[in-house]
Amino acid sequence: MHIDLTGHTALVTGSTSGIGRAIATALARAGAGVVVNGRDGKRTEEAAAAIREETGNPGVRGVAADVATQEGADAIVAAEPEVDILVNNTGVFGPMPVFEVPDAEWRRYFEVNVLSGVRMARAYVPRMVDKGWGRVIFISSDSAMLPPTEMVHYGITKTAQLAVSRGMAQSVAGTGVTINSVLAGPTLTEGVRQFIGELYGEDVPFEEAERRFMAEDRPTSLLRRLIRPEEIANLVVYVSSDHASATTGAALRSDGGLIPTLIP
Ligand SMILES: NC(=O)c1ccc[n+]([C@@H]2O[C@H](COP(=O)([O-])OP(=O)(O)OC[C@H]3O[C@@H](n4cnc5c(N)ncnc54)[C@H](OP(=O)(O)O)[C@@H]3O)[C@@H](O)[C@H]2O)c1
Repeated sequence: MHIDLTGHTALVTGSTSGIGRAIATALARAGAGVVVNGRDGKRTEEAAAAIREETGNPGVRGVAADVATQEGADAIVAAEPEVDILVNNTGVFGPMPVFEVPDAEWRRYFEVNVLSGVRMARAYVPRMVDKGWGRVIFISSDSAMLPPTEMVHYGITKTAQLAVSRGMAQSVAGTGVTINSVLAGPTLTEGVRQFIGELYGEDVPFEEAERRFMAEDRPTSLLRRLIRPEEIANLVVYVSSDHASATTGAALRSDGGLIPTLIP
């Protein structure tokens, strides 16, 4: 299967690091023009330049804006009105006992993790429908289906993304626009590396810490290691392509088999 996204423009929100950066890189490698996004101007430009250099794709550029606000979303749309592959990747996470999470924190998680994607889809999907082609992908998590006890407030935002994505797909039925979620499992980003390092102490080699983390904290994983960001990106590139034209309204798993269920 040869995937060529030449002629398409992809926006990956929250792509200065982690999974978003891997997705932006993989889409650029497949030939798409790619808009890299983060909150900080310098970080965003540096990430875009690095991806341009790594992939040899001159169509990679950056737009710094906070997608957790309507102003930020408006700034992106003003700078890049012609997006036809939208990857709603931005997300924050962190542990807090559920009975201690204040209203403001519940709202912040909802703004950053859910409304950010709603806003971007609201701006771009009508244009995709007019053109008769488009792709929207929400980066959800295994936490959507298995609420993590240590961060319930995060889990509900990931569950909400599945419902938003399915509902939006229903709203554009028959238009050539597909809308899906990708459920990422535990993935080796800088944040996760640091978290696991702190969990077992600096003396324990990372490979050993990773093995213990997966065995003790993520025992249902069939992969038995952390997923690499590129492995999530590969599924996103496929869903972004014409080859995935019959896949819409779906919750697709790239979770290393962690969710012990037959469907989805
Ligand atoms: N890592 C995992 O194990 C895992 C597992 C399942 C699902 N996920 C999901 O995958 C997505 C990415 O996670 P990650 O681990 O790759 O995160 P990460 O490494 O912390 O990266 C988050 C990215 O989002 C950007 N960002 C944060 N808030 C933003 C905002 N308000 N506006 C614009 N950009 C913003 C950050 O850029 P700046 O700091 O430069 O602004 C950064 O590029 C999230 O939706 C997460 O829920 C992750």
